[in-house]
Amino acid sequence: MITNINEIETSAFINAVRSEFETSRMRAHVITLGCQQNEADSEKIRGMALKMGYSLTDNCEEADLIIVNTCAIREHAELKAFSLIGKFKPIKNERPDLVVGVMGCMAAEPHVVEKLKKSFRHVSFTIEPNKIHMLPELVYKSLAEDKRTFIFGSDDGGIVEGIEPVRRIKHKAWVSIMYGCNNFCSYCIVPYVRGRERSRDSRDIIRECRELIDSGCKEITLLGQNVNSYKSDVDFAALIEEIADIPGDFIVRFMTSHPKDVSDALIDVMGRKSEKIAPYFHLPMQSGSDAILKAMNRTYNTEKYLSTVKKLRRAVPDIALSTDIIIGFPGESDEDFEGTMRMMDEVGFDMVYSFIYSKREGTRAATMPNQVDPEVTKERMARLLEAQRKVSYEKNLPYLDKTLRILVDSESSKGEADTYVGRTMTNKLVRFESKKNRVGEFISVKITRIGEFDLFGEEISEEN
Ligand code: 5AD
Ligand code: SF4
Repeated sequence: MITNINEIETSAFINAVRSEFETSRMRAHVITLGCQQNEADSEKIRGMALKMGYSLTDNCEEADLIIVNTCAIREHAELKAFSLIGKFKPIKNERPDLVVGVMGCMAAEPHVVEKLKKSFRHVSFTIEPNKIHMLPELVYKSLAEDKRTFIFGSDDGGIVEGIEPVRRIKHKAWVSIMYGCNNFCSYCIVPYVRGRERSRDSRDIIRECRELIDSGCKEITLLGQNVNSYKSDVDFAALIEEIADIPGDFIVRFMTSHPKDVSDALIDVMGRKSEKIAPYFHLPMQSGSDAILKAMNRTYNTEKYLSTVKKLRRAVPDIALSTDIIIGFPGESDEDFEGTMRMMDEVGFDMVYSFIYSKREGTRAATMPNQVDPEVTKERMARLLEAQRKVSYEKNLPYLDKTLRILVDSESSKGEADTYVGRTMTNKLVRFESKKNRVGEFISVKITRIGEFDLFGEEISEEN
């Protein structure tokens, strides 16, 4: 069900927090762990904090409200979150008025919530990802009643429209178009913590994109756990075409896709609208062994995956491809892993994000026999990374001496003077020198040197 924030209790709690407490003198600190979906959720969390009267701070020491937006995809992410949350205990001891909330995917895991309830008594509330609109209510309860509340385990939460995000960067924006996942890949916690798939109405999405473009946004990334299975009044191919047809100088990207949902219509529209739809596709393969893909419940095999890649390259010849690979899924034999290496060689990915399998409580794979020896997994990972370095370099070779259009992202984080970073339409990172700060603009850069991951160049012209 799609509701608007003005039609639900949330807005009443926003007003109550604002009028009953002196939030105009209080500050909120929001920490984001994990993926882009969490980044996008955090923008909404900040938006609600501002509406409640808080100002925002990057310093937890001076915050009156701390929100940790957590990730549950791998064990490592959870450990990091627990350690971070633990650090706020002494601050809470010193200032009992401090409100600490835990949101994001971990807040939807029963064993995590139990642990927070019992052993992290400085945590005031948890809210699962489908219920972020309940933040004002729980802040109110913490402030008014000093009550600890743990919200999870109910329905999918539907979709709440109208929560205004606080976007810190003007030229790039994430736009969530669908939430949840129905696929139940056997290793993955996401369907359990983010609920079933539901898509926003295309008119709401188009309106948001238009507003962004009118206010100077140059890059829109459509987000969803399974972005290309978007389905409301139109499908994903029709939606992205409509967005590409909005007048203005901008590009549109999307993530993350499932190979089973790469329709011919989507491939066709990417070919026809390649000036607006970035020629880049992140297509998680996960494994190059049909037996493992089956055990993962991915619903495609290597042949089908290769045929999709072929179609994409035919329609969009300069397309860049990236993928996710899991190493050490239960039962992955040497032969299965060789299959992954062969597929990587055959496809030639521009970029590979590889992850060591992490057992997630509650998923089907967690109970599978033949968990792989960590030493073997480590060796496989090293081999895969080594092979990919060479391929990534080769993929960058054709860029040498070319002049490319890039969107300037930011100044160099390494602190070098007159050095900036931007991205090509194919999503490659470019480091370049320029006398002028043109962050947020499209410019032309000549590539003078290439690395395995980055391109290097110099600005050669001013575009208008
Ligand atoms: N262990 C390791 N990697 C995982 N991913 C998802 N679940 C797990 C897990 N349990 C990876 C997948 C997915 C990416 C976002 O994270 O490759 O595409
Ligand atoms: Fe997880 Fe698979 Fe859904 Fe992606 S498609 S979120 S890997 S269950």
